[in-house]
Amino acid sequence: MFLDRERTPISMPRIYLDNAATSWPKPESVYLAVDETLRSVGVSAARGGYSSSVEAGKIIKQTRQSVSRLIGVEDASRVAFTSGCTDSLSTAIFGFLKQGDHAITTTVDHNSVVRPLIELRDAGVIELTIVDCDEEGFVQSSAIADAITSKTTLVAVTHASNVLGTIQPAREIGEICSSREVAFLLDAAQTLGHLPVDVQSINCQFLACAGHKGLLGPLGTGILYCAPSVTDRLRPLRFGGTGSERVDQGQPTTMPAMLEAGSLNVPAIAGLGAGIGFLESAEGRAGVQRSKQLATDALCVISKIAGVGVFGPEPNVDRMPVIAFSVDGYDSATIAGIFDSSFQIQTRSGFHCSPLLHQSLGTDVDGLVRISIGHFNTAEQVEIAVAAIREIAAG
Ligand SMILES: Cc1ncc(COP(=O)(O)O)c(C=O)c1O
Repeated sequence: MFLDRERTPISMPRIYLDNAATSWPKPESVYLAVDETLRSVGVSAARGGYSSSVEAGKIIKQTRQSVSRLIGVEDASRVAFTSGCTDSLSTAIFGFLKQGDHAITTTVDHNSVVRPLIELRDAGVIELTIVDCDEEGFVQSSAIADAITSKTTLVAVTHASNVLGTIQPAREIGEICSSREVAFLLDAAQTLGHLPVDVQSINCQFLACAGHKGLLGPLGTGILYCAPSVTDRLRPLRFGGTGSERVDQGQPTTMPAMLEAGSLNVPAIAGLGAGIGFLESAEGRAGVQRSKQLATDALCVISKIAGVGVFGPEPNVDRMPVIAFSVDGYDSATIAGIFDSSFQIQTRSGFHCSPLLHQSLGTDVDGLVRISIGHFNTAEQVEIAVAAIREIAAG
């Protein structure tokens, strides 16, 4: 056993409110699928003609189909598995952009979008425009339209802010990009599994997502959808064995093999498939509704506590189950520390990989505390967190 149980009290009761980072707990079916696959299948997919390898291949195929169904894609081969949303975003950004291109992103976007773009800009490969948001984290689609030039090839925007929960007008942005013949990369890390996300109606050519957040799969899973119109221009980041087209010396040029060099994480992908299966069940759908309602209710109460500042859209505006707040006289790390040590509540403090947003909100010194509610949180847990905020704010 690698866990030091003295220092890692895994059985200690805790209220986990950091689901925007990764969801926990997972549905029972996810644990079972990972365990069963690791124990009973246990081999690489498409690496041998023997029955266990074929079985592993079926698991990959089924999960790919589940993901495709979920995002409204008919041809499941358009979806590649990755190790997480960062991997998906880097694959799309570095693989698609070329010398002389212009790209657009926003101040609400996560470092996993912004940093690859800044890297390319600083290396002199691309020009970059970063469109600002308003104080609630909304980006105007007209601001994106205004930023498009004749050199623009990619608009990369997060579907919802991981800090504020603000949902961006993805359809409007998709429409603008389509009319200007610019590829649209949607970062759905915070929305898939919480909101319906359909790549056809949004009109995005890339969709990047984690498998371990709203989709309830294990850490180490992610997906990247690539439309046929962008695949020709896409160069893989990783080259190597794919178990297919073995007589060819070069990397496969068709999806998904072109982006899936190396052995896939079959047990985790089995878990991801089970997570999506759970979301499609009545219990899964109820979890989505409950998390949303709990966040709205908590927001209404927290925003009235004296000395507490709440950030993001008003409680009556549709948002993700994320609440970002500050308490007068405290920096965010201190509050999260008190939450953990005195209340066994696990939340995130600091800048949440979105430094540009904090600069624009003026929270770039103390950061914000973020409570993110998941599919399995209860009203009682959220009430305890709200009471804790009240107690800290009272001093
Ligand atoms: C909006 C957004 N994009 C990208 C990521 C990166 O995801 P991953 O942790 O799967 O690499 C995150 C993670 O928090 C996120 O919130």
